This record gives sequence, structure tokens and C-alpha cells, in this order.
Amino acid sequence: MKIFIDSGDIAEIKEAQAMGVIDGVTTNPSLLSKAGKPTKAAIAEICEVVDGPISAEVVGVEAQEILREGRELAAIHENVVVKVPLIDEGLKAVRIFAAEGIKTNVTLCFSASQALLAAKAGATYVSPFVGRIDDISGEGMDLIQQIVQIYGNYGFKTEVLTASVRHPVHFVQAAMIGAHVATLPLKVIKQLLKHPLTDIGLAQFLADAKKIPQS
Ligand code: E4P
Repeated sequence: MKIFIDSGDIAEIKEAQAMGVIDGVTTNPSLLSKAGKPTKAAIAEICEVVDGPISAEVVGVEAQEILREGRELAAIHENVVVKVPLIDEGLKAVRIFAAEGIKTNVTLCFSASQALLAAKAGATYVSPFVGRIDDISGEGMDLIQQIVQIYGNYGFKTEVLTASVRHPVHFVQAAMIGAHVATLPLKVIKQLLKHPLTDIGLAQFLADAKKIPQS
């Protein structure tokens, strides 16, 4: 399973990259609004840090505008993936991007029917937002299960990118279901690693190591 960091903060991205477990980055306008720099500059900087897919989101909502913005974002670096909202105008643009060889991440997916249409349009990735479904008392992971099954039934190449991940249980469940990717905030990446028995065991080994005769 691939792990992306979900952040527009270059310091966070560098920290995650240094851990050696990051395959790519996802951003969105909300995340980049905190970065304090223009979108293209922020994306270019991220591309210098992580050598993998970097999702950069358009803000247009009409196909022609999405295409213009997306081509500009894709021109920043070969690793840029154009993030497009899951609306009818977005899917029109996704089909054209696919024909041009521009990779897409179709975002704001909240239903299996939306995900099926994104795959038919030729999306590289689809991003179901599990945390936001849980936030309104739904079961975000049911959506991941449905999409993975549907894509498998028909051999769609679109990758399921589990987004809006709030905690390690989301990550483990997505991996068990077989989602291709999970994008995680830095906080959750760190939580994946933490286990009190590891810390206790290490402290004990280090203490015992001091008792070993040196010669
Ligand atoms: C990533 O692609 C999504 O934009 C992001 O995971 C959304 O997360 P949120 O629901 O925590 O804002």
C-alpha cells in the first residue's frame, strides 16, 4: 500500500519524507491556504522534496477552466497529478486529461456511484473522504470496501486513494480492504509508528545493555 502525506506544509512534508515511508503528497486549497505562498510555488517546492505523485487541486468548476488550470499545474513538474472535483464538468476534463497523458486525482468522492463514473472517465486516482462520512455518522470504510469491490469486478485501473483519514484504524482498515493508497496527515503517520510496548521494550534493552561486560 502506498502512503501519501496529506499536507501543504513543507516542513511537515520534509519531516515525513525523512522517515522514509512516503510515496507521494496530496494537497488541497484548504491545506495550501495555510502554507502562505502561491499554489504553483508551493507545489514546485514540494516536488523538489518528494519524488512521487504530488496532487495539486484546481479551483475552476467548468471544464474549460479546469483544463486550463490543470495543464498549468501539470507543467510545473512531471510528478504533478491534477486534482479535480467529482462533478460533471470535472469528469469532462478528466477524460481529456487522460487522453493528453495528464494524471488526475478525482476528489470529494462520497459514493460508490461517483467513484464508478470517475473510473469510467479515466481517473488515475479517486479520493473517497472517509473521515467526513464518519463525521456525519456514516461508515466511511464501507465506501472504500464498495469501491475496491466494484473496481475489481470490472478491472478498472483507477487507484483508490483513501482520504480524510483521521486515525490509524482508518489506515489499517483501508489496507485490509485493499485500497491502493492512503493519504495521511503527519500526526497520523506518527501515530502509526507508536506503540507503548516498543518504548518499554527498548528502554529495557538499553538498560540491560549497560550491564553487559565490555571486555
Ligand atoms: C486529500 O486529498 C483530501 O483533500 C483530504 O484528505 C481531506 O481531509 P479532511 O477531511 O481532513 O479535510
